[in-house]
Amino acid sequence: MSFDVRPLSNALGAEITGLNVGQALDNVTFKAIRKAYLDYQVLVFREQSISPRQQINFSKQFGPLDAHPSQGTNHPKGYPEILIVSTKTENGRDVGLRNAGPRWHSDLAYRKRPALGSMLYAVELPDNGGDTGFANMIAAYDTLPSTLKNAIDGQLAIFSSKREGIDTSHPAIRTHPETGTRSIFVNPQLTSGIEGMNDTDASALLNDIYAHCRQARFVYWHRWQPGDLVFWDNRCVLHIADHSRLDDPTYIRHMHRTTIAGDVPY
Ligand code: OGA
Ligand code: MN
Repeated sequence: MSFDVRPLSNALGAEITGLNVGQALDNVTFKAIRKAYLDYQVLVFREQSISPRQQINFSKQFGPLDAHPSQGTNHPKGYPEILIVSTKTENGRDVGLRNAGPRWHSDLAYRKRPALGSMLYAVELPDNGGDTGFANMIAAYDTLPSTLKNAIDGQLAIFSSKREGIDTSHPAIRTHPETGTRSIFVNPQLTSGIEGMNDTDASALLNDIYAHCRQARFVYWHRWQPGDLVFWDNRCVLHIADHSRLDDPTYIRHMHRTTIAGDVPY
């Protein structure tokens, strides 16, 4: 099997065409996908038409899947590995996670073992809005001004989830377990502080780092097309949803997410 890879921006991301991820992949093809994933950090598989089972089977080849326990029932019947990210309601209740990623974050960063990667499949898309932003935290680290680098390097950051009642510490700058590259791991949605630093100093330092990370040169905004399956590397990428139309009842966006479990960051 062969496929085409085309870079999507100067920041990160590549589009994969000519490949059906719903079919069994040979070893050579799978290795090439893994390489592209490490090279580009975000892969967009175009024109897919996959069932929940096919998405699970494809995802599982990258590692064991993380069920998303906090979301309890928000998955298609019989598929606990799939998290529904959706603006839809049924009998006045959200059918899935409505406001996924209101701020820049990395999935499950508050867990002892944060997610390796996430795959989001577009089931139903709005005519406009609902783009997803991805930011390259390797490039952000490489270009971090030395005063900020010296202040954050070697620190342990605290990551918190109110929903899950978890606080976990991880290195603020982490090393990618497969490529050895270093990247910024703190993020505005889930980082609540820095170990051994008072809140005022920690907030000031973190806000300066976030301002650096948010620069357009590190960011790719994904405009979703029908059939897109997007696979990002949570170890070195932050992402955010543009939900500016969230209160508009005509804004229908329905996605299926699988999450691949990762290692303890170092
Ligand atoms: C997620 C997430 C963003 C989006 O599913 O983890 O942050 O654009 N989604 O839906
Ligand atoms: Mn997310």
